[in-house]
Amino acid sequence: MKKIAVYPGSFDPITNGHIDIITRGLRMFDELIILIAYNPNKSSLFTVEERMDMIRQVVIKDEKILRVDCSSGLLVDYVQNKGANVILRGLRAVSEFEYEFQMALINRRLNRDIETVFLMTGFQWFYTSSNLIKEAASLGGSVTGLVPDIVFERLRGKFNKVTK
Ligand code: PNS
Repeated sequence: MKKIAVYPGSFDPITNGHIDIITRGLRMFDELIILIAYNPNKSSLFTVEERMDMIRQVVIKDEKILRVDCSSGLLVDYVQNKGANVILRGLRAVSEFEYEFQMALINRRLNRDIETVFLMTGFQWFYTSSNLIKEAASLGGSVTGLVPDIVFERLRGKFNKVTK
């Protein structure tokens, strides 16, 4: 049976920390779907189309095993409809643990056939989050090295004072 995993998130925007998880996830699964899922608790800077476009530009290397998609519904329904049985999430600081634990538990309650698998973030991305990157960029801070070049340029487009 094919091992298909869905890597969901807001990806607003995709960061080098996400790319680290994707690269490592690709070694573990036969197919990986990067899913821009709706998070009702967040307002986004980039539209879904902009986010998908950035992801496509930075990660599609082998289209046979990597797909990019979006969904506004329940995550477990999406996962099941795709014939997948794993939700892949990256875990950074301890402060994230409770939120991730709750999400994994509610998803498991909603569908017991689907498991959430966590990968610990690479050490250099420990403090990297889309929210902090957006905040730094909006105030003119340098986010070089934290996001792919294309994302850096898009951030520059949104906040024209991003410094290199
Ligand atoms: O990158 P994020 O914002 O931490 O990702 C959270 C996300 C989008 C994965 C989460 O909000 C989600 O799964 N949204 C889809 C709706 C859903 O199924 N929610 C969880 C069960 S109530």
